[in-house]
Amino acid sequence: MDAGTALLGVVGHPVAHSLSPAFWEPALRHDGRNAVFLAFDVQAQDFAAFVEGMRVAGARGFNVTVPHKGPAFDLSTERSEAAEGTGAVNVLVFEEGKVMGSNTDVQGVVEAVRDLGVELGGSRALVLGAGGAGRAAAFALARSGAEVRVANRTPQRARELGHPVVEWADVPDAAGDFDLIVHTTTVGMDGESSVLGQDVLRSAAGRNLRAVLDVVYRPDETPLVRAARAAGLRTADGLRMLVHQAAEAWQLFFGSPAPADVMHEAAAAAAGRR
Ligand code: ATR
Repeated sequence: MDAGTALLGVVGHPVAHSLSPAFWEPALRHDGRNAVFLAFDVQAQDFAAFVEGMRVAGARGFNVTVPHKGPAFDLSTERSEAAEGTGAVNVLVFEEGKVMGSNTDVQGVVEAVRDLGVELGGSRALVLGAGGAGRAAAFALARSGAEVRVANRTPQRARELGHPVVEWADVPDAAGDFDLIVHTTTVGMDGESSVLGQDVLRSAAGRNLRAVLDVVYRPDETPLVRAARAAGLRTADGLRMLVHQAAEAWQLFFGSPAPADVMHEAAAAAAGRR
């Protein structure tokens, strides 16, 4: 480190569980970058002061996670199309006094689906959940040319996303109508529950369903990913999305492509998957 070391990081609350520093550091070293990536645990009431402090301190920028993505949107002086489309900002970059807000979660979804070998243009996609992650997924899939439907336990929230809605109770029967399911609810974070069981997924796989992306991340497989894999479907989870969104953030921080393979490998190692 020296006087020219760039300051990067992730801000959230809580943030202690974040894998980001564990894969950013090796990527920065691999690329010979004079930069550090730190985790900042900041409470909601302090977030605006944190952003202003980082700007004044000359930080390059940082990743923003729960619960600050909405406030980060509000504090941005300029916003990317994906930020405008989702109302959420997960990357802030400081540039000549401006606070540029972006949403790289959107590209994270697109890249994770690409890894699954699903061609989004003309495909049918079902988004389960209508919180922040559901909004980002629906926007990402629609922008890539998929025909999107949304199902949420509380239907009113699903309708707010602006796509046709599938009733929550109808999801098991409807699952086979789609090429891809993207799951964004908090169900499964406990490692036990799943919104769709293996029997439903097997029958859907016998119709049109090809792949399941679960934005939930756990060190082991989520129950949904396990069930989908057992049903013969292609699967990906939140770890792939996390790294893809980070690679996109790197591009915003440095203006050049990330060493994505190094990031993926270090993230998998940090998650105990190697
Ligand atoms: P995020 O911003 O991370 O997506 P969120 O805004 O808290 O998180 O949204 C959580 C999502 O999980 C919502 O879609 C929520 O459904 P509701 O809108 O009906 O609350 C969904 N969710 C949480 N617990 C659930 C459960 N037990 N069954 C079904 N959906 C659930």
